[in-house]
Amino acid sequence: AKDHFTFDPGFMATAACESKITYIDGDQGILLHRGYPIAQLADQSDYLEVCYLLLNGELPTSEQKEEFVKLVTNHTMVHDQIRKFFDGFRRDAHPMAVMCGVVGALSAFYHDALDVNNVDHRNITAIRLVAKIPTIAAMCYKYSVGQPFMYPRNDLNYAENFLYMMFAVPADVDYKVNPILAKAMDRIFTLHADHEQNASTSTVRLAGSTGANPYACIAAGIAALWGPAHGGANEAVLKMLDEIGSVDKVPEFMEKVKTKEVKLMGFGHRVYKNFDPRAKVMKETCDEVLAALGINDPQLELAMKLEEIALNDPYFVDRKLYPNVDFYSGIILKAIGIPTSMFTVIFALARTVGWISHWLEMHSSAYKIGRPRQLYTGSLQRDFTPLDKR
Ligand code: SDX
Repeated sequence: AKDHFTFDPGFMATAACESKITYIDGDQGILLHRGYPIAQLADQSDYLEVCYLLLNGELPTSEQKEEFVKLVTNHTMVHDQIRKFFDGFRRDAHPMAVMCGVVGALSAFYHDALDVNNVDHRNITAIRLVAKIPTIAAMCYKYSVGQPFMYPRNDLNYAENFLYMMFAVPADVDYKVNPILAKAMDRIFTLHADHEQNASTSTVRLAGSTGANPYACIAAGIAALWGPAHGGANEAVLKMLDEIGSVDKVPEFMEKVKTKEVKLMGFGHRVYKNFDPRAKVMKETCDEVLAALGINDPQLELAMKLEEIALNDPYFVDRKLYPNVDFYSGIILKAIGIPTSMFTVIFALARTVGWISHWLEMHSSAYKIGRPRQLYTGSLQRDFTPLDKR
């Protein structure tokens, strides 16, 4: 039992910042949010409670939770003019492009609380972002399929509301959200909520260190998350499973991985050199959801075969490559009915609370503008050569 973590000097020299929000031990496969193991939070908590924990540092009492849920619920609507932003996008634009544009533009609306030095402005912005991001994400989907936007409802919980805004249509006045899907959605949100100084969170912190407004910082995080090496991996896993097609094609695919023609998407991690603890919970959730829905998804069987082969293949074992959070998430999202194009939007939706928690933490004490240095390997100083001499 320790009252604080200690780090070797070599590690401390490379650390980008200090933080109290999330702790990862890549060798042990440990992930703690404010000290609580991710498996316990996924199993015993819910996403808005985890949001409260990440934002405030402690789990809420029942009164605090009730107040927080009510506050978030009352901010789920977006200014009605924001609907007009969408008209500028092609209907077949990638939803992440739309999400990035719309979130960045929110500073054009909520400019009543953009003073980053004002703690009340910072706090209401955090609530607005956690509350509105599902509404905007669902609007991105509705716009892409040509259906009318569905307004949020105050009688549904966070995950139910999101699924309602995604899949209900005005004509279906009795639309009911499937509780199994809502619980799975909430679990996926929790598993994606925060993850220390990953590429997109570091992007949010770097943008925030210049004093940029929070909506611009979150839009920067969305842009960084979009890459297939990061949040775009969940979409890439489903594409990979589609391309492999069937279990008998796995050996041929694995050879292409070993010759580095392709990567095994959903495997490997910058930090985890052991199982990503989120992947374990994701796999259990995958089994639960598919069983509850009576779905026998051949892509799950294919994914399990890929995992089994990789975990016993020296190429992957020697490189400490294990499934990460993205390996099974797509199969659950597909079972919920989320289209592949929306997988990374879901990741961005869930990670918004992590991004804004780090942004708040950075602003809660004195900070300097981020300025990574480099190892210069270019030309030594030389004199200019006039054009007629080149
Ligand atoms: C996320 O940082 C975070 O916390 C991110 C995240 C979060 O919650 O924010 O956890 C979310 O981004 C998870 C990762 C999702 N990305 C993917 O699943 C894409 C596939 N994975 C890879 O692209 C890769 O594993 C990375 C980008 C995740 C990590 O890349 P690294 O740091 O280069 O991996 P490494 O140093 O461990 O690689 C060691 C070796 C290398 O080969 P050699 O040069 O030694 O021969 O393993 C190889 C790599 O080429 N390798 C892979 C591989 N990942 C690494 N080979 C095949 N398939 C892979 N997926």
